Amino acid sequence: MRLRGRKGIREDIERQKELVVLNAKDYKGKWAELFGNNNPIHAELGMGKGRFISTMSKKYPNINFIGVDMYDELIRKASEKAKVAHEITTEDEDGVLSIPNLRLMLFNIEHIEEAFAEGELERVYLNFSDPWPKKKHARRRLTHPGFVSKYQQILNSKGEIHLKTDSQSLFEFSLNSFADMGLRMRNISLNLHVDGIHPDHVMTEYETKFAGQGMNIHRCEVVIGQDALSAHQEQLQHAAASAVAAESTDSDETAE
Ligand SMILES: C[S@@+](CC[C@H](N)C(=O)[O-])C[C@H]1O[C@@H](n2cnc3c(N)ncnc32)[C@H](O)[C@@H]1O
Repeated sequence: MRLRGRKGIREDIERQKELVVLNAKDYKGKWAELFGNNNPIHAELGMGKGRFISTMSKKYPNINFIGVDMYDELIRKASEKAKVAHEITTEDEDGVLSIPNLRLMLFNIEHIEEAFAEGELERVYLNFSDPWPKKKHARRRLTHPGFVSKYQQILNSKGEIHLKTDSQSLFEFSLNSFADMGLRMRNISLNLHVDGIHPDHVMTEYETKFAGQGMNIHRCEVVIGQDALSAHQEQLQHAAASAVAAESTDSDETAE
């Protein structure tokens, strides 16, 4: 078996010029141009081997997806996953893959605001982010306010953050971090796979592994943009009105 060295991996990802973005800063404010349309852009920050982002891009062709990770090897693995997810059996002569609504971006999330302009993204997915359990490393957690304020900057008026993790301590830290920033959270689940997952739910590699071991998966959505917040408040009012109506129907029936 021929093993690929570091150089071979870099060559592989450099060849995927349609799919892999190595110079993300050059596209700041120009991602719509790169995708060739104004569809919403959803990014998974810390995509790992990329199963989630490639499955999502196949499932939702009218959304543009960007998977971000900082390791060459993971970008390469994610490009292989994308090929499988999109059932691509033929490439061009050089083996270059082209998937119109997917890009894999080699980048350190610490500098994410240098790759995206204000309001350029509509959704950020944080799936099974590294928990950094030691207190002295709290600033490295991707839900630390230092990171969240960057996401606020690059998300648009419909912007949301969707978080999934097996780590109870990271989940608690994240909820407190969002609350400290005055952000609204919804659809909070402490045990997603027992509460019932939506039929359209897409699993990540880590989720498959941890859920398979019987571990609780925590999830929540954070409402960031103004339009997203208004829609959320309307839903809450609607739910409250429906509950009042149901209660009055119940008491009418009891009286009869
Ligand atoms: C635990 S893995 C989760 C992978 C995937 N989201 C899943 O659920 O299967 C976390 C990923 O985040 C990436 N990551 C962590 N910090 C990062 C950073 N600052 N910039 C880019 N990627 C990062 C790691 O390289 C790793 O692939």
